[in-house]
Amino acid sequence: MTLNEILKQATQEHWATGHFNFSESDQARAICEAANEARTCAILGTSEGEAKHLGYFQAVALRDAFRKEFGVPIFLNADHHKSVEAAKTAIDAGYDSIHIDLSALSFEDNVAGTEKIVEYAKQVKSDKLPVISVEGELGYLRGSRKIQNEKIEVRPEDYTDPEQAADFVRRTGVDRLAIAVGNIHGISLNEPTLDIERIKQIRTAVPDDVALVLHAGSGIPDDQIKAAITAGIANIHINTELRVAYTQALKDEFQKDPSNVIPYKYDASAREAMKTILRQKLQLFGAANRI
Ligand code: G3H
Ligand code: ZN
Repeated sequence: MTLNEILKQATQEHWATGHFNFSESDQARAICEAANEARTCAILGTSEGEAKHLGYFQAVALRDAFRKEFGVPIFLNADHHKSVEAAKTAIDAGYDSIHIDLSALSFEDNVAGTEKIVEYAKQVKSDKLPVISVEGELGYLRGSRKIQNEKIEVRPEDYTDPEQAADFVRRTGVDRLAIAVGNIHGISLNEPTLDIERIKQIRTAVPDDVALVLHAGSGIPDDQIKAAITAGIANIHINTELRVAYTQALKDEFQKDPSNVIPYKYDASAREAMKTILRQKLQLFGAANRI
């Protein structure tokens, strides 16, 4: 199944696929193992920074290697690529999913750049990459993917406007749309409050075959995640909670045994810590046993 087909199914059946970020092969393994155990698809994501650290070709090679090892669909997304050039780099390297995030630009510039990537993805598709799924973003997502020791105030004017969303999707031809509805990147001192009504309005305004994506999933209470999925979210991004679990496990490991200098031994605890979060999220999203 293609990612677009899975997302269509998720929208119809009211569950969500998990998108999880990585920048180390161990983290990618944790994501694929958790998805395989849950019998669901894995969407591996690299931001521009994560991709530069690991290497675009290396990320593609890892996806291909994990596809051989596990019997579940595995996709690789270029997450929050903030220029047409960066998104093209990922497509050229072999990514099968692109999130072109030009939400910081004017509406017209966002439409124009996103459309270019939708067209480019169609041009370069091949036997090896028959479908490249493209996500655009509309609205202002505050915060950053780390622990922020401050309150982040989200204003209603940051939210995605349903009519503009419909216009954006029609003009760009994207397969997925990332929306701002009270979600905040990273973990902040205040809990996010999602505007569930707004999600429903966007879901009604946008054609059924365009998946709605909720970024900034870390720190959102479980009941709000469930309500967001019921309202029409089909894909949820989690990064910071996984980063915290991974890093804390390494810190604990070194505190327990400062003489441990064997990467494959201390990495194992970090991988397990990530898997605990991944299992919880996949259950929460209703994604288990869907493949
Ligand atoms: O694109 C990545 C995400 O939106 C992750 O956000 O760090 O708040 O989970 P998060
Ligand atoms: Zn995001």
